[in-house]
Formats: sequence, C-alpha cells, structure tokens
Amino acid sequence: MATDQAPDLRHLPGDDGAPLVGHTLQFLRDPYHFAFAMHARHGPLFRSRIFFERGVSVASPDFAERFFVDKDELFSSRRGWWTLLGDFFPGGLMLRDFAEHRVHRRVMQVAFRHQALGGYVDLIDPLIARAVDDLGRRSPPVAMYPFIKRLLLDTAAAVFVGVDLGAESDRLNRDFVTVMHAAATPVRRAIPLTPYWRGLRARRRLVTRFHEILRRRDTSQPRQDMLSILADAVSEEGERFGADEIVEHILFLLMAAHDTTTSGLTCLLMCLARSPEWQERARAEAMALPSDHLAHDDLAGLTVIWDCFREALRLYPPVRSIPRRTTRACEIEGHAIPANTPMWVNTEVNHRDPSIWTRPDDFEPDRFAEPRAEHRRHKFAWLPFGGGAHTCLGLQFSRIEVSLFLHRLLRRYRLRVPDGWTPRMKYLPFVRPADDLPLILEPLA
Ligand code: HEM
Repeated sequence: MATDQAPDLRHLPGDDGAPLVGHTLQFLRDPYHFAFAMHARHGPLFRSRIFFERGVSVASPDFAERFFVDKDELFSSRRGWWTLLGDFFPGGLMLRDFAEHRVHRRVMQVAFRHQALGGYVDLIDPLIARAVDDLGRRSPPVAMYPFIKRLLLDTAAAVFVGVDLGAESDRLNRDFVTVMHAAATPVRRAIPLTPYWRGLRARRRLVTRFHEILRRRDTSQPRQDMLSILADAVSEEGERFGADEIVEHILFLLMAAHDTTTSGLTCLLMCLARSPEWQERARAEAMALPSDHLAHDDLAGLTVIWDCFREALRLYPPVRSIPRRTTRACEIEGHAIPANTPMWVNTEVNHRDPSIWTRPDDFEPDRFAEPRAEHRRHKFAWLPFGGGAHTCLGLQFSRIEVSLFLHRLLRRYRLRVPDGWTPRMKYLPFVRPADDLPLILEPLA
C-alpha cells in the first residue's frame, strides 16, 4: 500500500531527535523510558521520528477516548498497521476499516460467543493439564517464557485449526514462528534468505495448508475448533465468509492471540512469583474449587486471578503502542493533525497515569476490585485490549487460557524467583523479562 506524502508536524509539541536517525536509537535502546521521557517533556501529545517516519503519540485517557471513539472515521487501523503486518496478514480484522470491518467483525463474533468459548475450554484444558505435569519433571529453575510460548502454540493449533496435527505440528509451529519473526524484523524487503523472505514463504505454506484443512474437514458432525466455527458462521444480518477470508482470518487470529497472551501470562507469573501475598490469595481461590478440572462457567468465579491478570496487563501491556493513520486533516484537543499522519496510542504511559492509578508502579490487583475500582475512573484508563471499534475480540479467550493454566499451576506448585533475581525487561517486540523468567516451582505438600 502506498503511503502518501509525509505530513508536516513541526507545529506540534515534540522534536525530530538526532539528525538523520531521529529518535530511532533511543527508541530501540529503551522504548519504555523513551515514551515516558517524551511524555514528561512534551505532554500527552507529542511528535517523534522513529525508523525515518514522523508521527504523533498520544498518552492520556482523554486523548485515547478522542482516538478510539472515531465517529467521523478519521483514524485508519488498516493504514496504521499496514507497515508492520500488511504483507503477512493483509486480510486480518485489524487490517480492515470502517464499513467493511464492521461486516467482518459481525461474522467473526460468532466464534467468540459464550457457547463457542465453552468448546475451546474443552480443547485447551487437557493440553494445559499435560504441560503442568511436565513442569514438575523439569530441573529448576525453569525458563518460563519459552515454556509458555510453546504451550500456547500447541493450544492455538488445537483451538484455531482443530486437527490433530501430530508430527506436522512442529512444522506448522515453525512456519508460524518464522512469519511472526519476519513481521517484526526491521529490514522489510524480500531479499532471498533474509527473515522477511523466509516469512513470506512460510506464510504461503500456511495458507496452502489451511486451505487443505478447510477443504477436507469432516462436516458430518459439529466441531468445536475456530476454523470450523468460522466456516459455518453467519452473522445476524446473514453475512458469511468465503474460503480465502476464513484462511486469512485464522492466520491473523493465530498472530493476534499468540505473542500477546504469552507476554501477558509470563509477566503475570513474574508478578505472582515476586508477590507471595498475592500468590497465596490466588492459590486460596484456586484451592477453594473442588477439582483440577474446570468448566467454562467455573472460570467467572476466579476473580482474584482475573484481577491479578488485569494488573499485570496494566503494568506490562503486551501491545504497548496502538497505531492508526489519519484519513484526513483533523483536530485533537486543539492540535491540528494533517491528513496521512501516523499516530499511536501509548498504553504504558496511560496505564501509569497518577491521576487515575494510586501508586501506579506497584502491583496491587485489588485496585480493580470494589471499593477501589480505579479502572472505572475513566473509560479509557485501562487499554491493554485497545478500545472502540477494534477492541480485542480475544479478551475472554485469553482470560480462559490464563485462568485454566494458573488454576492448575497454583494448586500444584509454589512459585518463586531465584535469590537475588530482579526484573530486567525487554520491550520489543513484546514485553517480557529479558532472561526468559527463570522460576523455581516447589511442589506443594
Ligand atoms: C493478553 C492477550 C491479548 C492482548 C493484550 C491483546 C491486545 C489487543 C489489542 C490492543 C487489540 C486492538 C488493536 C487495535 O485497536 O488496533 C487487539 C485486537 C484484536 N485481538 Fe487481541 N489481544 C490479546 C489476545 C487475543 C486473543 C487470545 C485473540 C483471539 C483468540 C485476539 C484477537 C484479536 C482480534 C481478532 C483483534 C482485532 C479486532 C478488530 O480489529 O476488530 N486477541 N488485541
């Protein structure tokens, strides 16, 4: 997709950074502190220049509201995400705008209704049970990030594609990881043997394979996987997807679900391992249920675990920056923004806004419970799942995966970090402890 002429943003707060490179080096070195420093210097709306592109960041609940409640169709998600995802996920939901997006979202919502989610619980739980058993056989400390990443890839294969992949599972997972790696690489040209080139080839293999699975699926009985649900999904208005659309959506869903939940769950484990008090409260909740196995309706009762997850996502939002591009010139809170301006909502700064959050740097899950309920102070205070028309469809799905995993894990093991361990975070492409989070899992009596 062509990007038109670069907009002139010099009238806005902010600066261009160093000659030639702009803020790129600062950003790559430490994107987290870069955002906070720019915000402290220039306020909740500032321009910057990263990877040779000038753009505008906003970081406050009021600005986020202006950005997400987009009645005049000023902010294009498709054009915002295109540079990063366009070559790999051109038909994904986030890569569609306005009227077309509404139609696709209506059909896709069928795969996220209560009944469909219950079916996913049945597919996911046995895989989680096996993984939690396996943890007990590993020698401590266990690097949790790769462990979670692998587990969630396996659950994704079962839930999204729905076939027993057997030996093929490794190859599909490898192709998928190659695509994800390519989407995040800074050199974005298909020069032979580069990660980008490999990513495009892996994408083609996945598309071919998903078409095959779709063609050969057994339609003689109802199935619980997402591919089958999307194949049969009809919106209330009677709209449905064709085969190409189903395959594109499944590929996108794999991407949207995977690294985000891996990052969120890893950061949650880190927070619990460092907070014995909250770990004990979450465990008491898990122990109060009669069995290791949970049905979908039991999950709503795990409110402490949900508050802990929400708090980990507040402190460490996996999607740290949500992009759009202006469709035409507009004004935001008195600032004139030209047409075709890249814009981002910064979730991290928003999530530590001291006018909303008490002791914003501390892990205090009860800030989400009554009577504190700090997230209710502004509709756009808590944004790990975005807001507005493109709000994440997978919130409940990620809650299911995290709750099932923690429920089983906390009933079996006490979690702790090695003595003297302190977090050193890596922020790109998704936030996580730089050393993969080594955890000691002590079996409970
Ligand atoms: C902790 C886990 C997750 C986080 C933090 C997260 C975050 C987000 C965010 C911030 C957006 C909005 C992007 C935008 O406005 O441009 C989004 C969109 C989306 N997410 Fe998630 N996500 C997570 C898990 C999932 C899962 C598990 C699925 C699927 C099973 C999923 C499916 C989607 C879809 C389909 C969209 C696009 C919605 C649209 O464009 O209408 N996400 N996600």
